[in-house]
Amino acid sequence: MANPRRNSYSNNTENTFQLQYHSRLSSLKHFLKKPLAFPLLLSIFLLLAWICLRLQHSSSSLSSSNLHEIKSSQEEDEKANLIKFKSGFLSSKDKRGWLLDPVSIALEYGIKGGAVSCFSIHVGEIKPGGVRGNHRHHTCNETIVIWGAKTLFRLENNQIVDKGYAEVIVSADEVAVAASPSGTAHAIVNMDRTHTAYILGCQDSMINNNSSATDFSVWKDL
Ligand SMILES: *[C@@H]1O[C@H](CO)[C@@H](O)[C@H](O)[C@H]1NC(C)=O
Ligand SMILES: *[C@@H]1O[C@H](CO)[C@@H](O)[C@H](O)[C@H]1NC(C)=O
Ligand SMILES: *[C@@H]1O[C@H](CO)[C@@H](O)[C@H](O)[C@H]1NC(C)=O
Repeated sequence: MANPRRNSYSNNTENTFQLQYHSRLSSLKHFLKKPLAFPLLLSIFLLLAWICLRLQHSSSSLSSSNLHEIKSSQEEDEKANLIKFKSGFLSSKDKRGWLLDPVSIALEYGIKGGAVSCFSIHVGEIKPGGVRGNHRHHTCNETIVIWGAKTLFRLENNQIVDKGYAEVIVSADEVAVAASPSGTAHAIVNMDRTHTAYILGCQDSMINNNSSATDFSVWKDL
């Protein structure tokens, strides 16, 4: 059974604590109203401001490292003569989704050497693990759009020492526009386990499959 004396004792102490708490609170209120409290409030304010600045600084140094990542990936994209967009970014102005003109996007973003007009167009899919291209057309410039899956785009680039090509990975949530000038080899590999990649190729002349117009299986590792 509970001890009534002990209960009343603990009730008393609780009451005393509450009284003390209230009296402290009211004396704090009094104190804050005095001009003496001003420096204290000011220093609390300064402390909070300092904490805010620190937090902002750490987040801005984070975004500058992100910026570095974006910049170096942009350099890789440039070597592969390609521009990538998050599909969410492209569709942000249109609830129906994205729609683009690859020729004008290439012009706008300095992707050079592609087809300026589409004499011939190919649209197709690449199932997971599949490879398209890996050839070098000698009689047409080509502008290529890639989307739908994690896809590797490889473009011949003799400025890349040893390899002789540049590579970029296009994520499943990205849309890429690339250009492969006449006489430049290109390959597209679907690296995705599940998603199908889609491509559109716009060529400025009829692609001729004969061996003098196109070199096939340029890279043996694909
Ligand atoms: C490809 O582009 C070049 C200029 O970049 C142009 O001279 C040429 O006529 C274009 N077409 C073909 C089929 O080479
Ligand atoms: C060229 O060859 C590919 C297969 O390698 C074929 O799909 C395409 O239809 C051919 N194009 C022409 C114009 O013969
Ligand atoms: C192969 O293609 C080239 C360029 O289109 C053309 O000039 C040539 O006549 C073609 N050769 C044959 C055997 O069809």
